[in-house]
Amino acid sequence: MKQVTTGARLSLKGVGHRFGETRVVNAIDLEIDPGEFVTLLGPSGCGKSTLLRILAGLLKQSDGQVCINEQDVTGLSPAERGVGIVFQNYALFPHMTVQANVAYGLQAQRLGDRQAIEQTVEKMLATVKLSEFAKRYPRELSGGQQQRVALARTLAVNPRILLLDEPLGALDKNLRLDMQIEIRRLQRELNITTIMVTHDQEEALSMSDRVAVLNAGKLEQFDTPTTIYDRPASAFVATFVGTANLLEAQLFKHDERFVTQPKVGGALTLSDPKPCAQPGPVVLAIRPEQWVMVGDEAKKHSLVATVQLVMPLGPALVIDLLLQDGTSIKLSMPRAQAVSLEHGMVVNLSLREGAQPAVFASA
Ligand SMILES: Nc1ncnc2c1ncn2[C@@H]1O[C@H](COP(=O)(O)OP(=O)(O)O)[C@@H](O)[C@H]1O
Ligand SMILES: [Mg+2]
Repeated sequence: MKQVTTGARLSLKGVGHRFGETRVVNAIDLEIDPGEFVTLLGPSGCGKSTLLRILAGLLKQSDGQVCINEQDVTGLSPAERGVGIVFQNYALFPHMTVQANVAYGLQAQRLGDRQAIEQTVEKMLATVKLSEFAKRYPRELSGGQQQRVALARTLAVNPRILLLDEPLGALDKNLRLDMQIEIRRLQRELNITTIMVTHDQEEALSMSDRVAVLNAGKLEQFDTPTTIYDRPASAFVATFVGTANLLEAQLFKHDERFVTQPKVGGALTLSDPKPCAQPGPVVLAIRPEQWVMVGDEAKKHSLVATVQLVMPLGPALVIDLLLQDGTSIKLSMPRAQAVSLEHGMVVNLSLREGAQPAVFASA
């Protein structure tokens, strides 16, 4: 049986938070659509958990408003808001069976008589594929199974919004991938608006409809994974999400063409510099896969670099190179296309056809 949840709209309007004198969340505006899966992505300490606790109603923000379906929910408890929250450490009751853990919230909130609660528990355990484990205790389950119990317990009370704080942080890599797929499947099936905190950029990019990138309490960019990766709004986003080689350069415009001259020498041509197309000092953010090695005939539009290290990484080859001023940069190419390279070889690097590295105005 399918649980019917209609996704709720979540709006943050100028949400900020201070602990004493320290501002840890700064004027965040976000509009999250019903049924959307959004991740809050950023380095440790940037305010992700604080923001999630504010959304949950576990912490009252210093400034701004949180609205669910246009209603200001400031002052409402998590249950009154209809939000469910799952933490990294599961927080299951060790002395209760799986069944009793899932029933707990339903009983505490008196959501139905005994028979109705039993039915909901059965349905939830089937949803997370743990029906045979109903009578087990948490210690008799693997980490992934325990996290599925925690999800079932949270979803059993039919929240309007699901909040997840690094829910997969304690799992090893293979199990993480299974659980990522599992969470996404459940989320789609229930059409429940979901906000997940993570510091893992791959997890954010692979799971989300949209990603909110946070840095030191501020929202740097809120967009689809593809746009975040292809069109980072700042040098911080370019380097935090994926790998980017940052190069200081001068941007010139000749007729309708753009040329950049990196400080280290050489030149790179660009067709459509974004977000900054203003001639002057800029920072280029070039992805490892945007480089290509060229022969001497194309030298005019290239940089000179010396090969340091060649690393096979699964299907790709990652090459560490040094520019003339000692700046270290990374290039990657499909292993199938690999040419033989050795430490100390001097090569010319240009931009791959169609590559559009991000260009930022110099601060
Ligand atoms: N209860 C608290 N009192 C004071 N400072 C706190 C408290 N909780 C978190 N902080 C601080 O707020 C900042 C953001 O923390 P947090 O939201 O947990 O970051 P994240 O989840 O992104 O790692 C950190 O500098 C942290 O030390
Ligand atoms: Mg945290």
